[in-house]
Amino acid sequence: MKLLKERILKDGKVIGEDILKVDSFLNHQVDVKLLNEMGKEFAMRFKDTKVDKILTIEASGIGIACIVAQYFDVPVVFAKKHKGLNMDNSVYETEVFSFTKNTTYNVRVAKDFITPNEKILIIDDFLANGKAIEGLMDIINQGKAETVGIGIVIEKAFQNARVDIENTGVRLESLAIIEGFKDGKVYLK
Ligand code: G4P
Repeated sequence: MKLLKERILKDGKVIGEDILKVDSFLNHQVDVKLLNEMGKEFAMRFKDTKVDKILTIEASGIGIACIVAQYFDVPVVFAKKHKGLNMDNSVYETEVFSFTKNTTYNVRVAKDFITPNEKILIIDDFLANGKAIEGLMDIINQGKAETVGIGIVIEKAFQNARVDIENTGVRLESLAIIEGFKDGKVYLK
């Protein structure tokens, strides 16, 4: 997606070896107009896919997931990292390992919000090592629903999550794909 790629090149900041900071338009301050264009793009790419619900993970996935959901006219569910007081034990839960943070955490979705045979589109901001997406797909499987697609805003291709996802047969669409970073510069596909 041209608009997003231009924005990454203009405002993205490379941190260390493998992190792209996009705090000025996606992860902290949010450019809603840009998100809206992304929503349109996802709607176009998944126009032939029947979608009943969108699933994402807190926190940064929620904004873009809500915008995309408007185009499909479906609800958004976000997996929670913290078990709030208002969450009982009727949840689907899975463990996710974060390479970026070198920690393991659990995510959960109330059983009420995943129905058998429901067609679910996963939306998230980043695809790095793919463990978060794997966790969401596991939750969808536990609920006997179906992952009908995965939409990612920024995929870091050099972290190789795509192969495992494609091996599951689920369609993966990324709006911007990063080949790598060199000397603080971003190289896009
Ligand atoms: P994964 O999501 O592909 O499994 O990779 P990983 O666990 O390593 O990512 C951990 C967190 O860091 C995720 O956010 C992910 O979205 C984010 N992340 C990964 N690579 C980058 C990057 O290059 N730039 C930025 N800005 N974020 C990256 P999270 O822990 O779920 O946090 P949040 O959604 O609350 O922000």
